[in-house]
Amino acid sequence: MARIPIIAGNWKMHKSLGESRKFVRALLPLVQDFASVERVVAPSFLALTAVADALRGSPLKVAAQDGHWEASGAYTSQVSVAMLAPYVQYVIIGHSERRAYLNETDANVNRKAKAILAQGRAPIIAVGESLEQNEAGETVSFVRAQVQAALDGISAADMANVVIAYEPIWAIGTGRSASGADADAIIKAAIRDTVAALYNSEVSDALRIQYGGSVKPGNMQEFMSQPNIDGALVGGASLAVADFAALIEIAARVKG
Ligand code: 13P
Repeated sequence: MARIPIIAGNWKMHKSLGESRKFVRALLPLVQDFASVERVVAPSFLALTAVADALRGSPLKVAAQDGHWEASGAYTSQVSVAMLAPYVQYVIIGHSERRAYLNETDANVNRKAKAILAQGRAPIIAVGESLEQNEAGETVSFVRAQVQAALDGISAADMANVVIAYEPIWAIGTGRSASGADADAIIKAAIRDTVAALYNSEVSDALRIQYGGSVKPGNMQEFMSQPNIDGALVGGASLAVADFAALIEIAARVKG
């Protein structure tokens, strides 16, 4: 089954409101034509509604970088998935930076995934191992456990809206990426095969899985040429219009 590639730019804590507006105005004409690729930007919460308004009716979609599972409540600083739903198609959850610095647990990732799906939106669930785990040979078992925990209680029907991003922590922002073949093998063993065991091969074949970690125009072709990699979750290289447009162009050429 053909999976539509998905390239998402995770801006993290970058770009002011004005810079965010300016960025999407410049990006849009450059990526208008690559309809075979899903194109997504994830601004900060501050810029999210402005970016969503600027992109309404365009082929560029919007993701939030997090979302609370409760619809509302006494959760100072949080923004709920229900509040985000009118503005976004995707919500990134479980990012390793949130897991490391902001107490994101597997249980909360699962709660968030369910809330996002209940709102008719799609979670991008980020998973990935640390350098120590990688060097100890624990990558597949650790990532498999993250996937199992994140998907607990999610139906096969809802899996059609789930995207998983494999982001080895040691490759994020370090300039040191996994090789395409290594990333593909881990994605297959730890994610696609796990989903096949949890559900069935149909669900597993349809699941879109991104690679993330120092993706840039120079290595994009290598990642996009892998059979189990359906796109990229991009940090640094998504912050420059020309680089992000180049990533989309390469994805369209290789996978589209
Ligand atoms: P970099 O592309 O900057 O390594 O970041 C990857 C990432 O964390 C995307 O979510």
